[in-house]
Amino acid sequence: MKKPAVAFVAGARPNFMKISPVLRAVEEFDAPFHPVIVHTGQHYSAELSDVFFRQLGIREPDVHLEAGSGTHGQQTAKVLEAFEAFLLRASPAIAAVMVAGDVNSTIAAAMAAAKIQIPVIHLEAGLRSFDRSMPEEINRLTTDAISDLLLVSEPAGEENLRHEGVPETRIRYVGNVMIDTLVSHLSMAALSRITRPYALVTLHRPSNVDGRDSLAEIVDFLVDIAADLEVVFPVHPRTQSRLEEFGLLSRLQRLTAIHLFPPLGYVENLGLMRDAAVVLTDSGGIQEETSYLSIPCLTMRDNTERPATLSLGTNTLVGRDFISARRLVTEILKGNYRQSKPIPGWDGKAAARVVREIAGFLEMRNLVSPVVQTAH
Ligand code: UD1
Repeated sequence: MKKPAVAFVAGARPNFMKISPVLRAVEEFDAPFHPVIVHTGQHYSAELSDVFFRQLGIREPDVHLEAGSGTHGQQTAKVLEAFEAFLLRASPAIAAVMVAGDVNSTIAAAMAAAKIQIPVIHLEAGLRSFDRSMPEEINRLTTDAISDLLLVSEPAGEENLRHEGVPETRIRYVGNVMIDTLVSHLSMAALSRITRPYALVTLHRPSNVDGRDSLAEIVDFLVDIAADLEVVFPVHPRTQSRLEEFGLLSRLQRLTAIHLFPPLGYVENLGLMRDAAVVLTDSGGIQEETSYLSIPCLTMRDNTERPATLSLGTNTLVGRDFISARRLVTEILKGNYRQSKPIPGWDGKAAARVVREIAGFLEMRNLVSPVVQTAH
């Protein structure tokens, strides 16, 4: 019997680190399905897309939807329309669709598939920040509501889904595939050339960067801590345009202790994270990666959908309280900060469990012959 095709949808930077280990595990365990890689084109710049395909060894996408940027409605609609057209004409037919994370491409592709009754598998299901002002929270809630198999990465995820009434039979705790990617690339991560202790900064949430006052406060904070340590800041395109628009860029450029870069590739960023004294971020994935690496992480948000990084990892939510954040940076530089504890399923072996669950799911739906044997 020919292996059924499963579309692996990836559209924005954080998706690429999630599909890469799963694609590798599909080959390693000779999975009973064939992955078709669909790039939605939500991220299209070389620095947000191509470099990840290259460094993570992901083959060329089979399909490119070229959705590009736009408002949330425009971007979601472009992916929805283009992905539906692809699903309707795909030959051989797509048996199931796997979407990852919480970006606009995730919900758009899930919705296109669900409406034409192609089963949806959500990788990194169950995360909840309980903050609906975040576009990602809307994407998480809606994607989980229409997914048939929910693959959970974070210990709180199963409980969140149960509270929402998702049947137990759809929920599987597989752990965190982002940590698989981290584990397999750590030895390739370049040594940082910065010899003094430094803070690595990543910022791109609309709530932090889209308003002049909020971005100006963060710039003040970075200028302040640059008196005590170097500040390494790869600037996301959204943040770059806002810094320019609000006339804030020159305040950062003026200081020799602040090092601005364009967005970095995966291995460059990983090396900088591993060797940092502290990471200041508003990213989701970086809260997880710093926890695994046991690097202090101060998250400039009021909530997190990844609470295990607070209870077991090295993450502290500082929100917009820059006085506390300043105090914490001082303590961290003195060596006063907690170490992380292991988080269940964040062990570098999650992708094997994902492949096993997808294979089991397809078998249950009579789409494949007997289940693949994997390591777990
Ligand atoms: C998106 C995701 C966010 C994720 C982030 C990682 C949603 C709702 N948001 O946010 O969850 O954490 O990606 O980066 O899906 N741009 C480029 N090149 C590109 C893509 C975008 O220069 O390849 C610029 C454009 O000016 C665009 C802006 O960046 O308007 C924002 O891009 P967009 O995809 O809308 O959102 P992100 O902020 O990247």
